[in-house]
Amino acid sequence: MTDTDLDAAGRAASAATPPTPPTPSTSPTPSTSPIPSTPSAPSTPSASSTPSAPLLHVEELGVSFARPGGGRRIRVLDDVELTVRPGEIVGVVGETGSGKTTLARAIAGLTTPDGGRVLLDDRDIARLRGRARRRFRRGGAIQFVFQDPLRSLDPELTVGASVGEGLAIAGVGSRAQRAERVAGALRQVGLDPAVADRLPAQLSGGQRQRASIARAVVADPRLLLCDEPVSALDASNRNHILLLLDELRRRLALGIVVISHDLSSLAGIADRVVVLYRGRVVEAGPIADVFTRPRHPYTALLIASAPDIHGRDRLAAAQLRSQRPDDDATARWAGGCVFAHRCRFATDVCAQTPPSQDAAGRPAGDWTVACHHTDTWRNQTAATATPTTAVTARKESSA
Ligand SMILES: Nc1ncnc2c1ncn2[C@@H]1O[C@H](COP(=O)(O)OP(=O)(O)OP(=O)(O)O)[C@@H](O)[C@H]1O
Ligand code: SF4
Ligand SMILES: [Mg+2]
Repeated sequence: MTDTDLDAAGRAASAATPPTPPTPSTSPTPSTSPIPSTPSAPSTPSASSTPSAPLLHVEELGVSFARPGGGRRIRVLDDVELTVRPGEIVGVVGETGSGKTTLARAIAGLTTPDGGRVLLDDRDIARLRGRARRRFRRGGAIQFVFQDPLRSLDPELTVGASVGEGLAIAGVGSRAQRAERVAGALRQVGLDPAVADRLPAQLSGGQRQRASIARAVVADPRLLLCDEPVSALDASNRNHILLLLDELRRRLALGIVVISHDLSSLAGIADRVVVLYRGRVVEAGPIADVFTRPRHPYTALLIASAPDIHGRDRLAAAQLRSQRPDDDATARWAGGCVFAHRCRFATDVCAQTPPSQDAAGRPAGDWTVACHHTDTWRNQTAATATPTTAVTARKESSA
């Protein structure tokens, strides 16, 4: 199944369960965004302050791919855990190739996992097969938003036709009713419904991304998977799209997963963050806590490399990088911690035993860290730590 098939599943959303009409925009001027235009405005935690039953719960998810020439499969995700509550935004970060897109694809059923569970409302959707799987996809509960909006908007169709394509395929309502739903979805994302008559090429980059989000929300989803939704946009549009996602999760109680390389963007909207390294979750927790005082050396290194994130006891990258030569990367560390070959604080136990996500030293709450030396590695940097700086992570600033 292709990405387009997933969209087709979303398109047919209404076949099984007619979606509720979109909430009309409160904006008196639909051509302008209903979202405040203040860049990086801090948002109030929603789901994190009022915990509710998980919408999505991923357990022990594993994905591997066959090698082109045969032989042992390439393990891309291992034992991945992820929880998203209604109305919550969860960020997924990690360097290129860490498995972020594969995770999103496995959640959406576009990649078949080797093992583990993907529970949506307590139902294991990874186990669905045949007709049940098709029916679930047609339900449109999970929608993708891509980095490049042109992946979901057909360049030869008007914006209105693209946004309403799924409704038309599913034969939902009359033409006039579908047009009304499309107009409602466009208003929801801050677009003037008049753009429905334009081609995608006649919209700006930011407007195109809004239209692709309208195409996702018109299917009345429960969960949005946004893969680098703002990385192709300029700074101003980036902030507007992030604020739009923030507003949509509140208004529609959507669970949203945002994959991003841009940590500062996530700090503005996400409630929690999951840090992936080589297909493993190395740290996960409330984003303000994780970004303010990361407990895994890899997270600390990511944050040290992000100039806009300032945490308490912020460390410099030089304090975190391994001093060992590169050729130390292979055999010695092969069976232990995935980060050991790059970790300045690695010891023999790191080389021999992979740390579990709930290893000793796990902090209270839902902040988990996979490191044998969670409570002690930072001491080794103390002598050279930089002075305390201002904290920009959201919770810290609102405390
Ligand atoms: N269909 C596939 N067949 C084989 N290997 C794959 C396939 N899809 C992904 N991979 C490999 O899985 C690993 C994770 O890929 P993935 O696209 O999930 O990474 P990512 O974190 O999204 O990276 P980026 O930040 O560059 O988008 C990579 O090594 C990639 O080459
Ligand atoms: S387990 Fe060891 S190698 Fe892995 S991050 Fe922790 S200190 Fe570093
Ligand atoms: Mg990717």
